[in-house]
Amino acid sequence: MTVRVALPADMADLRAIRRAVFIVEQGVREDEEYDGLDDEALHLVAFFAGRAIGTARILIDGGTGKIGRVAVLAEARGKGFGRALILAALDALRSRGATRAKLGAQTHALGFYESLGFEAFGPEYLDAGIPHRDMVLAL
Ligand code: COA
Repeated sequence: MTVRVALPADMADLRAIRRAVFIVEQGVREDEEYDGLDDEALHLVAFFAGRAIGTARILIDGGTGKIGRVAVLAEARGKGFGRALILAALDALRSRGATRAKLGAQTHALGFYESLGFEAFGPEYLDAGIPHRDMVLAL
């Protein structure tokens, strides 16, 4: 299993993973998925058998790192790639001086993020029609 910071040449693969997971599988509208923030984000990519199968992105604002667009292709789930992507994102945030990580978790994935140390706060809300809760982790 390899997770690393994405290179410009990886971006087409990452967008294809996000399209398959968010637009095709979860029914998110294209204009909501492509929110214009990709150019300023740090992207991570996970490989399985030489193929890109997972991704996440990080946006840093002061001491806070926002992790988002966490996606693993359906056929590669349950093998630890999601966990490896979040751990790599947390390492990347620490090395860039962030003191806390935040994310908006789809409610079905709350247990996934809790197992990585995140705590939910605030009310449930809809984003792209999907129920979410905000979560935070001190770094
Ligand atoms: N709810 C609760 N626990 C979950 C979970 C979920 N939805 N998905 C995984 N877990 C658990 C696993 O059982 C595993 O626990 P273990 O280490 O005790 O066995 C742990 O979390 C890590 O699982 P892992 O195999 O690393 O996760 P994954 O590679 O399947 O990726 C997601 C998890 C959420 C990224 C993946 O299911 C996905 O891409 N889903 C669709 C997109 C999505 O919903 N993204 C999140 C947006 S907030």
